Formats: sequence, C-alpha cells, structure tokens
Amino acid sequence: MLVLVLGGNSEIGLAAAEQFAQREKADIILASRNLEKAQEEAEKMSRRHGVSVQAEPFDALAFDTHKSFYEKLDPKPDVVILAFGVLNNQKEAQKNFEMARNTLDSNLLGAVSILEPIAADFEERRDGTIIGISSVAGDRGRQSSYIYAASKAGLTVYLDGLRHRLWPSGARVITVLPGFIPTKMVAGRTPKFGFTPLETAGRDIYKAWKKGRHKIYTGAKMRWIMAAVRVLPEFVILRIRNV
Ligand SMILES: NC(=O)c1ccc[n+]([C@@H]2O[C@H](COP(=O)([O-])OP(=O)(O)OC[C@H]3O[C@@H](n4cnc5c(N)ncnc54)[C@H](OP(=O)(O)O)[C@@H]3O)[C@@H](O)[C@H]2O)c1
Repeated sequence: MLVLVLGGNSEIGLAAAEQFAQREKADIILASRNLEKAQEEAEKMSRRHGVSVQAEPFDALAFDTHKSFYEKLDPKPDVVILAFGVLNNQKEAQKNFEMARNTLDSNLLGAVSILEPIAADFEERRDGTIIGISSVAGDRGRQSSYIYAASKAGLTVYLDGLRHRLWPSGARVITVLPGFIPTKMVAGRTPKFGFTPLETAGRDIYKAWKKGRHKIYTGAKMRWIMAAVRVLPEFVILRIRNV
C-alpha cells in the first residue's frame, strides 16, 4: 500500500500517515513545500516503522504544476490524505483581501486543483481512497472565523460531491471534520469546545478508512457538539458574541 500526504508537514497528516505505516506497513510519500522538513519527518517515520517514506516537492498554490506532479508519481498511491491548509487571522483578513484570497486559494482551490486529476485516475482504476481534511468551522459561519470557515464549507461540499461521483467506480472519499487539535496551526489559540489529542485524530482517520466510513468528526464528543451548533436558531447565534 502507498499513502500520499498532500501537505506532508501537517501534524494531523503525519499522525494519520503514522497509523498507516504502523498498522498497514504502508509506504508513504510526504508532499510538501518545505522539502527539508519533510525529509526529516520521512527519515524518522521510516526508521520507526521499517517502511519506505520519501519527500516530494508540492505547493498547493502552484495550480499549474498539479497535473504533472500527479502524472509523474510511479507507482500511484492507494490512499491520498489532503492535509494542507492555512488558518488566517480573521480580523486581518477582513481588511486585507490578499489574506482572504490566500485562505480560499489554499484551502479550496488548491484542493480542487490537485484532487481532480487524482479522482480521474482513481475512477479509471476503480480503486483508491481520498481522505480530505476539512473542518467543523465549515458547519456554521461565525464572526470569529467566517473567511476560513467559508473555505472549509466549500471543501466539505466539494468532497460530498466527489464522493457521490466516485461511488459507482468503487473509489472512496472520506471527509474528516476536526475540531480543535493542538498543532502548530492553532498555537496560541484557546479551544472553545475542548480539544482532541493529535494521536486520537490520527487513529480516528485511520479507523474511518478501515471501517469504510464516509464522514467523521475527530474525537468522541465533537459530532454531538456540532449537531447542537448546527441547529441553534440564527437569533440565538446572533446574541452569542464570543464564538
Ligand atoms: N489543528 C486544528 O485544530 C484543525 C482543526 C480543523 C481543521 N484543521 C485542518 O487540518 C489540516 C491540517 O492542519 P494541521 O492542524 O495539521 O496544521 P499544520 O501542522 O499547520 O499543517 C498544515 C500544513 O499545510 C501546509 N500548507 C499550507 N499551505 C500550503 C501550500 N501552499 N502548499 C503546501 N502545503 C501547504 C503547511 O506547510 P508548511 O509546513 O510548509 O507551512 C502545513 O504543514 C488543515 O487543512 C487544517 O485547516 C485543523
């Protein structure tokens, strides 16, 4: 088995890859814009699990390179983990359109651009699994994060549609909706509804693949918390200012 991690230095992506390396003896490709760091991670993971782990250059914003990046991979992966993403500062992005655009370009357009050639290949091979890491933020827009949330809402709906399209071919799409997971992305921020440890998130993602799930929240409680957040009437949400 070969697992490709897009955003190969993502701590969540690495935690999930670790599970595939350990439990399935899968070989891993860490595709990252920071090749030096990805190479360090690759060497450590390879030593820990006795599998082949290689680093490849990949930039989610370099849309015109995505098709050839995937075409050059030989062999092709069985599992692709879409783990790259950026979390903007909401207040700054309200004033700075370039920051808002970077969030949408990275989290949504970058995903569409690289996943379409992969989906076409999986559809033709009638095999393979795409695991897309979106976010609970996309379940409901809130004043503290609505630009990031919009990018993730778009990604969640995109993954829904991709799953629907690929289903008859046997290729699968799993959507992962993490709540707060302590990684470098959220360093310095405080969780509002508790947090999920990184290792738990990695295990949840692996188990979703193993059990053939379509959409998961990471951590035991998050599904129920988000069910409540989604059904809160708008007039209630408008009066809660610290979310
Ligand atoms: N942590 C959470 O609480 C949380 C909650 C919900 C959803 N998520 C989502 O989970 C995913 C993984 O995040 P994480 O928590 O593992 O954070 P992370 O460790 O900061 O990983 C995000 C990775 O995305 C990579 N990246 C950003 N822009 C890129 C680009 N243009 N090309 C290639 N790689 C790029 C970064 O690469 P560099 O290393 O080169 O900077 C970074 O390693 C993200 O999509 C995030 O939105 C996280």
